[in-house]
Amino acid sequence: MSKDPLLQPYQLKHLTLKNRIMITSHEPAYPEDGMPKDRYRAYHEARAKAGVALTMTAGSAAVSRNSPPVFNNILAYKDEVVPWVKRLTDACHDHGCAVMIQLTHLGRRTHWNKGDWLPAVSASHEREPAHRAFPKKVEDWDIQRIVQDYADAAERMKAGGMDGIELQAYGHLMDQFWSSLTNTLEGPYGGSLENRMRFSVEVIDAVRERVGDDFIVGIRFTADEDLEGGISEEEGLEIARRLKATGKIDFLNVIKGHIDTDPGLTDVIPVQGMRNAPHLDFAGKIREEIGLPTFHAAKIPDVATARHAIAEGLLDMVGMTRAHMADPMIVRKIAEKREEDIRPCVGATYCLDRIYQAGDALCIHNAATGRELTMPHEIPPAGQRKKVVIVGAGPAGMEAARVAAERGHDVTVFEAAPDAGGQIRLTTQSERRREMISIIKWRMEQCLARGVKFHFNTFAEVNDVTSEKPDVVIVATGGMTHTDVLTEGNDLVVSSWDIIAGDVKPGKRVLVYDDAGDHAALQAAEVIAKSGAHVEIMTPDRSFAPDVMAMNLVPYMRVLQDKDVRFTVTYRLKAAKRSGNMISAVIGTDYSAHTEEREFDQIVVNHGTIPLDELYFELKPNSKNLGAIEQESLIFGRPQPLDRNPDGAFALFRIGDAVSARNTHAAIYDALRLVKDL
Ligand SMILES: Cc1cc2nc3c(=O)[nH]c(=O)nc-3n(C[C@H](O)[C@H](O)[C@H](O)COP(=O)(O)O)c2cc1C
Ligand code: SF4
Repeated sequence: MSKDPLLQPYQLKHLTLKNRIMITSHEPAYPEDGMPKDRYRAYHEARAKAGVALTMTAGSAAVSRNSPPVFNNILAYKDEVVPWVKRLTDACHDHGCAVMIQLTHLGRRTHWNKGDWLPAVSASHEREPAHRAFPKKVEDWDIQRIVQDYADAAERMKAGGMDGIELQAYGHLMDQFWSSLTNTLEGPYGGSLENRMRFSVEVIDAVRERVGDDFIVGIRFTADEDLEGGISEEEGLEIARRLKATGKIDFLNVIKGHIDTDPGLTDVIPVQGMRNAPHLDFAGKIREEIGLPTFHAAKIPDVATARHAIAEGLLDMVGMTRAHMADPMIVRKIAEKREEDIRPCVGATYCLDRIYQAGDALCIHNAATGRELTMPHEIPPAGQRKKVVIVGAGPAGMEAARVAAERGHDVTVFEAAPDAGGQIRLTTQSERRREMISIIKWRMEQCLARGVKFHFNTFAEVNDVTSEKPDVVIVATGGMTHTDVLTEGNDLVVSSWDIIAGDVKPGKRVLVYDDAGDHAALQAAEVIAKSGAHVEIMTPDRSFAPDVMAMNLVPYMRVLQDKDVRFTVTYRLKAAKRSGNMISAVIGTDYSAHTEEREFDQIVVNHGTIPLDELYFELKPNSKNLGAIEQESLIFGRPQPLDRNPDGAFALFRIGDAVSARNTHAAIYDALRLVKDL
C-alpha cells in the first residue's frame, strides 16, 4: 500500500473516505431548472471516477424560496430535487467516492429579482455590496420557517443518497446572524454571541433531529472575518467551540475572511499572482484548538502543498477544488506516480468569475470541464494515424498539437517566434500573471512526450507546409493588434501590446483607450502607472474592462488605485492630432453630440486583434474542404466532411484568433472540439 499521506484513508465517523483529497463545495452554475441534471452529474462523476475521495456538491444549494438562486443554485427546497440528487450520488458512489452537498440560506447575499421575487432577508437591513439587495430584517416567523426549511432540505438530501451535508456560514445568513457587523437584531437572536448563534444552533438541532446520527453534518464557517468590528479570530474560536459543544457537528471546514465585496472574496479564494495556501496554517490552528475533523481549501493548487497539509497534520481533508476543475484526474495521476502529467490550475479564476458574468463555470484551459457530456478529458486514439501540420504555437495551436498527438497522429508544428505561447507569453510579462505560462508549458511537455516535432523561428510559407505532405493542416497563426480605429491620427497611437512587451516606453501623461474590455488594457495601464505616469483609462462602454470580470479586476485595482489613474466610462476616442509635443485626443460619446479635446503625450489603443490569415487563404484552394468547418459536425462531434474540392490534397482548418479575436478558452475549445474527431 502507498505510503503517500494523501492516499491514506480517513475515517469520518462511520464514513470511510478513501484518501485525503476532496473537492469543496462550488456552484458551477450548471443546474437546469434549479436541478442537478445530466451535466451536473457528469461533471462530478468524471472526478469521482478518477479517484477523489469526497466531492462536496452544489455550492450554496438553497433551502428556502427567499434565498433566491443568484448564481443558478440548486433548489434544495423542491421535492423534485431528490431523484436528480439520487442519480448524481449513485454515479459517484459507483466509483467509491463519497458525496455531500452544501446547504444554505444566502440571507442578503443574493438579489430579490431572481427566483420567486421574494425579498432577501437578513439579521439587519444592511446591503451586501457585492449583491446589492437591501434585505428585509427577519421576523420570528421568518426564522421559524427557515429553520424548518433547513431540516426539510437535509432530509431531501439524505433521501437522495447523500453521505452528508455541509452548512454554509461565511457571508450567508448563518454568519450574518453571528457577525455584529450584520446583526442589528435585539432580543433572542441579537446582542450576545449566544443570541447571535441561536439561529444556527436551532438549525443544527432541527437538522440533526431530522437526519439522525448516521448522517454526516458539518459546517463551513469563517473563523475570522478579517474585518474591523466583525468576527475576530478569538470570537471565531469561541464559535467553533460552541459548534462542537452541540455534539451534532461532524466536521469543520475552515474559512478565513469575508466575501461581501469582490476584494474580500478574492482574499478568501486567491487568484493567480496571490500567495498559495494563505490560510492553511490558520486552518491548522483551528484543528489543533478544536479537535474536530478539519477540512480547508484556498489556493492549494499543487500536490506538494496538499501533501504538506496532510503530512503536517494541518488538515484531515485537503480541498483542491479549482485544481480538479483544471484536471479531474489528480488522484489517479498521484496514484500512478504521474504527478508531472497533472494539468495545472493557473489560478486564472475564469471559472468563478464566469458564474456571475457568463452563466457557467468553465476552465480557462480545460475546455472539457463542464462539458463532460460532449468533450473528453481523456482523448481516445484515432483509428488511422495521420500527418498533421499545425502552424502557430499559441494556446490554440498547442492544444491542437496536444490533442492530435494524444490521438496518435504524427504532428509537426511551425512557429514564427523563438518560443511557444503566442499572446500568453505577452500576458506573462506581468509578474502577477506568470502562472499563465503553465498553460503552454504543460502542453509542451505533453507534446514532447508524444514525439511532436517543433520548428521555431520559422515563418511557415505554403511550401513549408505542403512539403510535409500533410493529411491535415491547422492554421493557428493568431492575430495582430488592431489599432486603426480612429478617423484621423492612427499613426499617432501605440498598442497595448507595444507597452506590455516593452517595445514602447511609457509616456508621462497617457490615455489608455480600451474598447476591447479585456486584460491587455489594464495590463498596459499597470505598466504605465508603475512608471510614475498619469494614466487615464477610457472606454465607450458602460463599465471598464467588462471581460476581465470581478475577481480578476481586484489585483489590477489594488495597483491602479494606488497610482495616479483615472477611469472614464462612456466616452469614445474619435481621433488624434499632433499638437506640438503633445497629442490632442478628440473625444466624443455614443450618447450625444458632445465632443471635447484633451492633450496627452501618449495614446495607447486596445482594440483586440485582426487575424493573421494570409497563409490560410493561400492554402485554401489546395485543400479538400476549402477551409470549411461544418458547424453541425463540429458541435455534435462528427468528423468534418472533406468533399468540397476533389482535387484537394489535405484537410485545412483555421482556429483561434486566426479566425477572430476571442480569448484563451475559446482558442483552446476551438482546438479540442475539432481535433478530438480528427
Ligand atoms: C465556480 C466556483 C463556485 C464556488 N461556489 C462556492 C459556493 O457556493 N460555496 C462555497 O462554500 N464555496 C464556493 N466556492 C469556493 C470553493 O469551495 C473553494 O473554497 C475555492 O475555490 C478555493 O479552493 P481552491 O483554491 O482549491 O479552488 C466556489 C468556487 C468556484 C471555483
Ligand atoms: S479557470 Fe483558472 S482558476 Fe479556474 S480551474 Fe481553470 S486554471 Fe484553475
